[in-house]
Amino acid sequence: MTDTLANTLDNNSKRSHRRTRMTVHERLQCIFDEDSFTEIGAERMHESAAFGLASKRHAGDGVVTGWGTVNGRPIALSATDFSVLGGSLGRAHAAKIHRIMDFALDQKIPYVCINDGGGARIQEGVGSLDGYGGIFRRHVKLSGVVPQISVIAGPCAGGAAYGPALSDFVFVIDELSETYLTGPAVVKKVTGEDVTGRSLGGAEVHSQRSGLAAFRCTDEEQCYEDVRYLLDILPSSCATPAPTWSRTANAEQSQERNNLILDSIVPESPRAAYDMREIFTLIVDDGDFLEVHEEWAPNLLIGFAHIDGRLVGIVGNQPSVLAGALDANAAEKGARFVRFCDCFSIPLLTFVDVPGFLPGSAEEQGGVIRRGAKLLYAYCEVTVPRVQVIVRKAFGGAYIVMDSIGLGANLSLAWPTNEIAVMGAEAAVEILHKRRLKQSSDVIGDVQQLADEYRNEVMHHTYSAERGFVDQLIDPSQTRGYIKRFLSAVSAGPHYGEDRKHGNHPQ
Ligand code: HXC
Repeated sequence: MTDTLANTLDNNSKRSHRRTRMTVHERLQCIFDEDSFTEIGAERMHESAAFGLASKRHAGDGVVTGWGTVNGRPIALSATDFSVLGGSLGRAHAAKIHRIMDFALDQKIPYVCINDGGGARIQEGVGSLDGYGGIFRRHVKLSGVVPQISVIAGPCAGGAAYGPALSDFVFVIDELSETYLTGPAVVKKVTGEDVTGRSLGGAEVHSQRSGLAAFRCTDEEQCYEDVRYLLDILPSSCATPAPTWSRTANAEQSQERNNLILDSIVPESPRAAYDMREIFTLIVDDGDFLEVHEEWAPNLLIGFAHIDGRLVGIVGNQPSVLAGALDANAAEKGARFVRFCDCFSIPLLTFVDVPGFLPGSAEEQGGVIRRGAKLLYAYCEVTVPRVQVIVRKAFGGAYIVMDSIGLGANLSLAWPTNEIAVMGAEAAVEILHKRRLKQSSDVIGDVQQLADEYRNEVMHHTYSAERGFVDQLIDPSQTRGYIKRFLSAVSAGPHYGEDRKHGNHPQ
């Protein structure tokens, strides 16, 4: 780190601590390997004199940019310093960010952006807006080429909110993160609404409701540790494979135990809930499943894990939330993740236990057709190796959407508990035998009997495999073995290219 930067940061550290957040210097120390950070543009200042800015020129202009390593792998970074003009972005500040983003693109290394500021610098007018234009354009150019991670490390307004929305993963921190297009004061002035920054755009809002934040952390230390972990497992760019992960000792022995547990994990009652995460953790290396968007649309699980050291993306219905039904939020959540994995040649595993799309006017009016189509589109477009595992129910459109063979799954496996149909047996007979049931003196008994017949005829567990809609029926305990063998057969499958396949556009 340069002396200039160190002095500036030390001068500003008291103010940052008053706001109970780390200084930029401390943040860089948490993210990068020791002494690995090289700063550029440390002397750069703004040239504006408007509205008293002439007396507020700071070396670095409120943003630190440069590169360093995380566990030995190079990463480009920009980090806003709120203690300089509220972290606002003027022309010089923006030019520094443009330069480091261009560097990330040229060198094909991940880009991390720590945001902590008030957006476009009001005194610099259109020059600030143009600066954001250049940042947004670069986020889109980087999209699908290198992983982009944003941290909301303070109040982030306007452009400081839209930049993160264009990156792949957004981290928020309890008590610290706030992000909105316009801050509480402007909201009050324009609409009369009295809101706090936290209720407008705090960590919970974005991790649970808006879907902007992929990860919520309790404090800054945990946040930067988690950022490091994510960088550790991801590939550096679309041109390189993800690092191979080493397993802990005795992993195979404990795997044998896990396989046995798997055989009895699905409840006997087809309506009983269970936690799909348990299935993931029993199958993947060391039980390590890194869940993404844990709190948003929890009826669909997404995340990363390793199988035999190889990074995979996992998507799965969650029967313990809304019985695992898909809705518009879940579809968008899944779609963006599937596209991310495709961008970076990360094989996909999809675990299915889904009773259908959530019915009702709220969903229809909320755009479930349009937004659900995004998940369909994403799966249809991917070219990475992909395995579908049908755990239990797979009904209707939701069966198709969850990476069915029709959409292009390379391998479809089904457990003995699988039930694949246009809809559940009871719902099916109520439509098919509407007239008969109207005249029945024992509706419940008749529905039961007809539903059993329907199940035995078109939903029994070998039905789909006999007709080629499932490649192989397997016991749950065989799942990991099949996936391992599949991954070794497709090891040359992903195409690591100089050019991106496509961007990872915001949903
Ligand atoms: C210049 C700014 C500034 C800005 C804050 N400051 N935002 N200076 N331009 N955009 C300055 C303040 O004047 C103050 O300076 C210091 O930073 C700290 O700000 P405070 O308001 O005291 O801090 P806090 O109470 O924590 O509130 C932080 C805040 C608030 C929520 C970010 O400052 C705020 O709402 N700022 C304006 C946000 C905004 O509307 N930005 C423009 C968005 S439009 P002193 O000298 O008093 O310490 C945009 C264009 C792109 O970004 C849009 C793309 C969609």
